[in-house]
Amino acid sequence: MARLAVLALLAAPALGFQLSSTPRPASAPPHRPHTMSEWRRRSSHSQKAEAARLDAIARASAEGDVSAIEAEGVARRYGYAPQCVTYGEITPKGFTSLAARLRLCQADIFADLGSGLGRVVLQAAEQFDVAAAVGVEMAPSRHDKAVASLASRPALEPRVQLICGDCAAAELWATGGPLSNLTVAWISSTLFSSDLMELLTQRVEQASSLRVVATLRPFLRCPQGYEEEVPPEPCEMSWTAQLYGGDDIGTPVHVYVRALDGS
Ligand SMILES: C[S@@+](CC[C@H](N)C(=O)[O-])C[C@H]1O[C@@H](n2cnc3c(N)ncnc32)[C@H](O)[C@@H]1O
Repeated sequence: MARLAVLALLAAPALGFQLSSTPRPASAPPHRPHTMSEWRRRSSHSQKAEAARLDAIARASAEGDVSAIEAEGVARRYGYAPQCVTYGEITPKGFTSLAARLRLCQADIFADLGSGLGRVVLQAAEQFDVAAAVGVEMAPSRHDKAVASLASRPALEPRVQLICGDCAAAELWATGGPLSNLTVAWISSTLFSSDLMELLTQRVEQASSLRVVATLRPFLRCPQGYEEEVPPEPCEMSWTAQLYGGDDIGTPVHVYVRALDGS
């Protein structure tokens, strides 16, 4: 909870989320309750469904927690501030709206830079059927949980690669490396340090196949060869969903697209 509160405070200016609804054929009129008892039954059912959804989000975030010892060890090992290891997730609904904005499709090679429990990587492969999905996570205990989740969905294994390490490491981006061909990148970077953001800016600039990058923390400077698309995309995050429930309007995700003239 303390971690959640820290994340929420840091992200406070931009908190929010949207309610999902089951798609209905355009021609079908919405079914309205005819009696008070039907109305009560239906509203208590939707409240229960919403409570269960928020509960699942809270549990997912708690699963991502690591000990202070692991956080400090990881941060020291890679030379970043321990706050980089703080956990929170984009929710499945949040990633669905982000993927639509990024036009994520079967032709894409997707990467989640700081992939935590691997949920977004698996969602990209399962729901959006991307050609390949790569997750890079520096906290070993989270990486291990992601590997276990992948093992429980063997059909996805040929298209998913999970790496435990620093997502800014030059060897991952070098020719033939697992990030060398990516087309779409997602970075849940609210608590990434300025040094890490600058390193990632350089990696993104050098990744010639990359067509779009989405990041919670804006880059300190627009990567050369890209343009920031406005407005940012409001997406549901685990911390905002728990804090604001149905009144949340989404946390802005900054979207950088490859400029057409390549300048
Ligand atoms: C806020 S969580 C996001 C999890 C997931 N990507 C999502 O969007 O739901 C950020 C994750 O990035 C990881 N991380 C931070 N710096 C990293 C780095 N340099 N390389 C790899 N992972 C990093 C943290 O350990 C944490 O698990």
